Amino acid sequence: MTIQWFPGHMTRARRQIQDKLKLIDIVIELLDARVPMSSRNPMIDEILQGKPRLIVMNKADLADPRATDRWISFFSDQGHACMAVDSSTGTKVMEIPDRVKELLHDKISRMIGKGMNPRAMRALIVGIPNVGKSTLINRLAGRNIAATGDRPGVTKGQQWIKVGTEMELLDTPGILWPKFEDELVGYRLAMTGAIKEQILNIEDIAFFAVRVLAQRYWPALAERFGLDTPPKDPEDADEIVRVMEDIGRKRGCLLSGGRVNLEKASGIILRELRAGKFGRITLEEPERIN
Ligand code: G4P
Repeated sequence: MTIQWFPGHMTRARRQIQDKLKLIDIVIELLDARVPMSSRNPMIDEILQGKPRLIVMNKADLADPRATDRWISFFSDQGHACMAVDSSTGTKVMEIPDRVKELLHDKISRMIGKGMNPRAMRALIVGIPNVGKSTLINRLAGRNIAATGDRPGVTKGQQWIKVGTEMELLDTPGILWPKFEDELVGYRLAMTGAIKEQILNIEDIAFFAVRVLAQRYWPALAERFGLDTPPKDPEDADEIVRVMEDIGRKRGCLLSGGRVNLEKASGIILRELRAGKFGRITLEEPERIN
């Protein structure tokens, strides 16, 4: 689903999250492990107003594990607790309640110190569209939460989902907007499929994808498409277009006169990238944030 964000939507989204902050102990900020920076909301620190936070990088099954480790160190160095999960299979998802408990240890101890029975810690998941918020909620709940609200005539209010005995989760996530000002952010989100192709030119998206692949994952790209010659300079746009043309030729994307149909080749490159056909790929690295 593509959401067009207008200033009114952003204000409303922000207000909705800030209303929910009053109800919860901790925020789970969900990012896409392939694009941890581009899948972040630009105002997140301001919106969360110092609420305890656990950064969860989702879709780790699609991301380069070495890059994921570097991102975890990057966020830890900034003082954030951070972990990586795969919500589609549930890998590491059930470690989230333990991390939450660890982060709220002081709060729990204070409750015990005051003679109170420590209650379940309450969490809210926030993130931009398509990072996997619903998938993670369903995984943590152990059932399909969305299904209940879809029954006609059933009005669905906000509900708490029990995750084990020590954590409760709001059943509706906070939806945030991505950073718009940076063109590269848009292209990186489009490479993952989070932004639909109609908004950006498909050949441009594929160009950025091939550039990243040529720079950092050339062996995987070469193997997939049977390419022989790496670009001499992966920063050179002509060289990247030459690689796209080679790919087009290998896959028979030809126009009359033998010219390469770049649009068709671009569609193939993006489909295969999103389906993980080049292996596990991370499109941005903490050392190269721009
Ligand atoms: P949202 O609520 O944040 O908008 O995201 P949602 O859960 O709808 O997930 C968006 C897409 O990402 C879904 O795919 C979902 O299956 C996929 N996804 C979520 N978490 C993971 C993960 O950890 N790993 C992988 N590989 N995929 C994940 P879709 O193509 O939109 O739908 P479908 O193919 O599952 O039907």
